[in-house]
Order: sequence, then structure tokens, then C-alpha cells
Amino acid sequence: MQATDKIWRNGSFVSWEDANVHILTHALHYGTGVFEGIRAYDTPKGSAVFRLTDHLERLRRSAALYQMDLGYSVPELAAAVHETVGVNGVPSCYVRPIVFRGAGPMGLYPGDNPVEVAIAVWPWGAYLGEDALEHGVRCKVSSFRRIGPNTLPPTAKATGQYINSVLAKLESSRAGYDEAILLNEEGYVADGSGENVFVVRGGVLYTPPTSASCLPGITRETVIRIAHTLGYEVREVNLVRTDLYFGDEVFLCGTAAEVTPVASVDDHPTGPRGPVTKQIQETFFAIVGGQDERFADLLEYPVRAAV
Ligand SMILES: Cc1ncc(COP(=O)(O)O)c(C=O)c1O
Repeated sequence: MQATDKIWRNGSFVSWEDANVHILTHALHYGTGVFEGIRAYDTPKGSAVFRLTDHLERLRRSAALYQMDLGYSVPELAAAVHETVGVNGVPSCYVRPIVFRGAGPMGLYPGDNPVEVAIAVWPWGAYLGEDALEHGVRCKVSSFRRIGPNTLPPTAKATGQYINSVLAKLESSRAGYDEAILLNEEGYVADGSGENVFVVRGGVLYTPPTSASCLPGITRETVIRIAHTLGYEVREVNLVRTDLYFGDEVFLCGTAAEVTPVASVDDHPTGPRGPVTKQIQETFFAIVGGQDERFADLLEYPVRAAV
């Protein structure tokens, strides 16, 4: 991980090295934090944050589920994100806002622990590797099931719930795969350890509905809009593992993974990158690079003070 200079913490900047927490931080023991993964891209008009408001709205909803008051409005946090990107001089970077219950009383009731808010940024290339963007990743259907709406609601991004993804990731990695795809408790496809899943078959895109215990991904929503714009039909339907095996094309999408083709699932070939995936991927990268006016509304730039 490439360190940057400053981390925004509760309204002011601290140095990267000093952005520490107490060992009795509630979130460290019980997973009582919520976070976002966002990307800023360098565009011809300067650094732009992709769907920043939508990400921060999801952060606000995640915090609300765990009864945490952010203490800042979404526009205030948006300004803080732009400022953190600017002060660190990283126009293209990954942005990680986190809200968590800090040190205070120990025990499961978190209501008396302080809510801390921080924003870190750092340069981060292709999450699953540069090569994967062209050649795809080898996926394994995990033996661990995805958390459900009545256990740890997957609609939120709570830190503690990611131990589910970590189990799947460890398992797939030990078995020699690049990424895990999780099924939900009913056995339908949910999502990857940190990505949503799409299958292309007969020129139609299929993706699990958000009721299938996947995160309502912001990239997923963007891919659906891209697909419609390009004239493809998208069906949000329950998928079973063999739909992955026998898809013409399969790809993953997410803020970190962007649009990454899947080369195989449980060793059934689904790659190399197919024409639909390539077209969606190229459109996605044009959008985030500020080169597709049809989607200019998805990029958010810092508001400059009038001179
Ligand atoms: C489990 C999971 N599914 C899907 C996604 C993709 O979501 P997004 O496109 O909003 O980054 C993520 C990433 O945050 C994730 O962690």
C-alpha cells in the first residue's frame, strides 16, 4: 500500500503515521464500523470522484442501520473527500471513508462509545491485477454462504460483516483461485467477495437482484445504465451456479475491481474477455476518465471558490 501524507479525521488533518486508534476501540472488537470504497480519477477537467454523493448516501444509510450519527452532512463529507484528495496530491486514487465506534465502555451496547469519522486516500491500481482487466480472473464458488438480510444485512457496508468475504477469499486463495463468488442461503448467486456479478448469455445481461443478498453496488447500477445505453437487455433474476459455468461471458464489477472479466468459474471456462464485457469495460473506463459526455453527471468535481 502506498502511503499518502494526510488523513482526514473528525474534521481536521492528521499525518498518515499518526492516524491511530486505541486498542480498546469498540469497532476493533465487535466490527461496529461502516465504510465506503470510492475512486477518484484524473480527467481532462481535473480530479473527479465517481458517484461521490451516491457513495456517501450509502455510507449514511449504513451508519443509520447501526444507529451511528455521522455528525456531518453528505455535502460536508463530499467537501472533505475532495479536500483529502487535493491535499495529498493524488488526483487518481482510492478513497476510504470509515465511521466507527471508538474506545469507551466495553460490551456489546455501542451507544455510549464515540463515533469517529475518517477519510483516507491512496493510489490503488487494478484491484485484481492489470492483467486481469484483459485476461480475466479464475473464480471459485465459495463453500461459505453469503450473509443474509436477517443476519448481517448485506445492503449496508459494515466492517464486521466483511469477515464473511474474508473467509471466502481465504478459501479461494488457498485453493489457487483469484476470487470467490458466494451463494446466498437459498443457494442462488449473491456476489463476489467484493464485487457484483454479471453473466452474459445470448446477448442479454443477467445479474442477481439485490434481494439475493448482494450489495446494491454503485458500479452494478452504472453497468446496468451502460448496458441499456448500448442497447442491451438486462435481467435482474436469481442465478444458480451453473448459470455462471455456462454463461457466454461472466464479469465482476465494483469500485475496486472496476469491470473485470471472469476467465473461469470452478474451472469451467468463461473467458477470455468476451465482446460484451469488453464494450461495457471500455465504456466504463471512458466514463470515469471523463471522456463520455453521456455519463458526465456521474463525475463530481471539487467546488472551486469564486475569485
Ligand atoms: C460484497 C460486495 N459486493 C459488491 C461490491 C461492489 O459495490 P460498489 O460497486 O458500490 O463498489 C462491493 C464493493 O464495495 C462489495 O464489497
